[in-house]
Formats: sequence, C-alpha cells, structure tokens
Amino acid sequence: MRQKVIAGNWKMNNDLNESVLLINEIKEKLVDRDNVKVIIAPPFTSLDRASQLISNSNISLSAQNMCYEDSGAFTGAVSASMLKSVGCEYVILGHSERRTLFGEDNSLINKKIKKAIVSNLIPIFCIGETLEERESGEMKNVIEKQVREGLEGISEHDLSNAILAYEPAWAIGTGKVATPEQAQEVHAFIRNLLKELYSEDLANKTVIQYGGSVKPENAAELIGQLDIDGALVGGACLKAESFAGIVNNA
Ligand code: PGA
Repeated sequence: MRQKVIAGNWKMNNDLNESVLLINEIKEKLVDRDNVKVIIAPPFTSLDRASQLISNSNISLSAQNMCYEDSGAFTGAVSASMLKSVGCEYVILGHSERRTLFGEDNSLINKKIKKAIVSNLIPIFCIGETLEERESGEMKNVIEKQVREGLEGISEHDLSNAILAYEPAWAIGTGKVATPEQAQEVHAFIRNLLKELYSEDLANKTVIQYGGSVKPENAAELIGQLDIDGALVGGACLKAESFAGIVNNA
C-alpha cells in the first residue's frame, strides 16, 4: 500500500522567528501516525533552523524550489547541494506559482527534476491545469504534456522515489477545492499515464498528492479516494492546528 504523504508548502511566509514558533507548535499538535509521512517546506531562510528543530521528530524537510545548476554565476539561485547541506530531503518543483509567476516551463522543470534526482533529493513534481484549460476541454492534454515533458529522459529507476502532486491552479489559494470525484478522475488519469510511460509497477507505487485548498474539513474525503495519496497544503499549513488537523484526518 502506498504511504500517505502530507506536505506543507509555506510559500513566501514566515521569517525565522515565525518559522521557529510554527514548527514548535506543529510538533506539539501532531500525533505520530505510522502510515502518514509529514513534510514541511519553509522558505530558504528558515531551512537550516527548521532542520535542527525537527531533528528529533518524524517531520521531514523540503525546499520550495531549486536551481538546475551545481554552482556558479546564477545570482539568487540555490543549488541541490546547498539544500542537502541544510537537511532537505525533498524539493517542490514545477509549482503552478513558479510556472505562472516566474515563467518556468516544462523543459526547465525537467532539468530541475533531473538535478534533484542525481543529487539524492526527492522531487515533489507539481502539475495541474488552469480554469481556462479545464473549461476549454484541454485539461488532459495539458497534464499529459506536463508529465511527458517534465519527466523526459528520466528512467523508471530514477523516478522510483519521486512524488507527483496534482494541483489544479484554479483551486490553489482560492478556497475552491476540486470535488473528490474531480480530483480522483485526474489522479487516475495521471497514474495511467505513468503506466503507459513506465510500468504498472511504477504507476502503482508512485505517491500522487492532491493540492488546492485542502483543509482539515475536506482532507479525509479527498485522501480517501483510491488514487489520492496525500496532500500538498498551502494556506492551511500556516496554522499548526489546521496542518495537524489535516495530518490527523488523513
Ligand atoms: P492552497 O495551496 O492549499 O493554499 O490552495 C496549495 C499549494 O499551492 O500547494
């Protein structure tokens, strides 16, 4: 059985002091669950401290982005080895905010995923359609293109630990959550695509999270769907109580 994975994407929220407070509160409120993996993704500036604070817990650390190069003249960028050096095990790549606000395309995301994998960071690879794409009937084509191009040239072996996150852009930060049926339909589509591109074995073992307005009140029903293996949480992960509530309801 696939493990449930709940990840909190803090986005550009919480300075160092606020991060320390939130992590301590999360640690107090989380009930350890054998079958649920918990990941937090604070901003870069809090990662080092976060890693120290969670070292005696079952919480794992993720970054929210990464550069595809190892080092050099890339002002403002952060490399995989830098993330590893502050205790990151995961990195979120291809988030819709990176795609729409910062112009990241499938081929750039592909380079980042490859770099994460060779650096022993587990990518949380985000895909998802906009409202316009859904309403014009393009949803499946868009998602298929994101998956094919994002994973181009990556072997089954290299992909074996990767996490995918289906996040319909229209549900992110809008309070408009996909219905469990809508989400399940796309998750099954993505899993089937993995089967076509790789194998049934890989498709069956790959964790596919749902993201977009997940809250404690809707988490159980979403995560209860056959092909939904957890959640990538934005807004609701900024309060310890709601983040812990989602984990405890998963
Ligand atoms: P949201 O964000 O939970 O605030 O909708 C999810 C995400 O962007 O990962």
